[in-house]
Amino acid sequence: MDHFNFTDSLLHAESVPVSDIVEAVGTPCYVYSRATLERHWHAFDRAFGDYPHRIHYAVKANANLAVLNVLARLGSGFDIVSGGELARVIAAGGNSAHTIFSGVCKQEWEIREALESGIGVFNIESEGELEAISRIAGEMNAEAGISVRINPDVDARTHPYISTGLKLSKFGLSQDRALDIYLRAAQSPGIRVHGVACHIGSQIVELAPYRDALDRVLDFVEQLGERGITVMEIDFGGGLGVRYRDESPPAPDEYARQIREQMVSRGFRIPVAIEPGRAIAGNAGILVTRVHSLKRNEQAAFCIVDAAMNDLIRPALYQAYHEIVEVVRDGARERGVYDVVGPVCESADFIGKDRELAVRPGDLLAVRTAGAYGAVLGSNYNSRPRPAEVMVDGGTFQVVRARENPAELFGSEALLP
Ligand code: LLP
Repeated sequence: MDHFNFTDSLLHAESVPVSDIVEAVGTPCYVYSRATLERHWHAFDRAFGDYPHRIHYAVKANANLAVLNVLARLGSGFDIVSGGELARVIAAGGNSAHTIFSGVCKQEWEIREALESGIGVFNIESEGELEAISRIAGEMNAEAGISVRINPDVDARTHPYISTGLKLSKFGLSQDRALDIYLRAAQSPGIRVHGVACHIGSQIVELAPYRDALDRVLDFVEQLGERGITVMEIDFGGGLGVRYRDESPPAPDEYARQIREQMVSRGFRIPVAIEPGRAIAGNAGILVTRVHSLKRNEQAAFCIVDAAMNDLIRPALYQAYHEIVEVVRDGARERGVYDVVGPVCESADFIGKDRELAVRPGDLLAVRTAGAYGAVLGSNYNSRPRPAEVMVDGGTFQVVRARENPAELFGSEALLP
């Protein structure tokens, strides 16, 4: 459920006509809906009911300060993977004590800044990392909470690039190796064992992989208990999918119910943290683009638009499908089937293939479900300024990231003397 709907043949973001936004900021632009973000966050929060839980929005999905601020105001925690994301969380009014620092390659300065900010937990993925955190915490006279990310070796049955829980993956640790690290952590100065972490992948559209993963995590928690190590929290990662086309991912309710039931049936009431990114931000955003021209070759017809793979790389990178709709529906327009492509000089530069659209040059199109892994994965390839980003709130909207201009893009470069 999102708040991008048609009224009188015109696409609205909440109650603002998308065409009004374009008039103010131009195209391409990302448009986010505050009500949709809030709705999804509350859906997760409510789903766990009275079971002790914390929701840590995965900043990587959409790191715009306004998005983070909307969630921080709800009391959300955050999941970060870099010092840059930490700086954003703090700038957006997030609480670093409710922030989890994940990622396979935390650098010295990042660990230091995280400790300075009073970060909640480090999810660690190697022995070296434990040593580094213990050393730095010692130097700073601080204490670091840690969870070890284990790899439950389950197949999330999603795109291979976003599947992370298999033995082959660079993420997490086998349970044997993790056990060694916990035993060392319990003896390491500056370290407090907090919990166990796991994240099996992204855009997961069924519950079974989660059930298998949680079973293995709970087996491991039992093993830790036998060694005298108490787990204060299970961080179960993110990954719940959204509907891009015809998927029917479980609702937050079903997902949380399964976790609760599984905990209870195994006699646990350990607090749960989750790290949803896509399920909160995905359909809270659209990318609006203008049709530049229509072009027909012998084999195919192209609808050339002003957004490109540098603005939304998911189709090129994961063969991802995003629904594309006309912002103004005009029944009288002639329909055609087009590959929707951008201005970038790469054949991979497409937003959608074989789409039936009723368009003319100058029309607006909206690319749906672009709120997660859209703007954040953008680049300046072909020296294209990044699009404006706008947050809609009821009947009003605000620019939350100004469109870049070309001179800005090389402002920090230098000529030779
Ligand atoms: N926690 C960890 C440790 C993660 O690695 C991720 C995502 C999340 C949470 C959030 O997962 P989500 O709830 O958003 O599925 N660029 C790809 C997705 C990469 C996901 C990486 N990790 C895409 O556009 O599909």
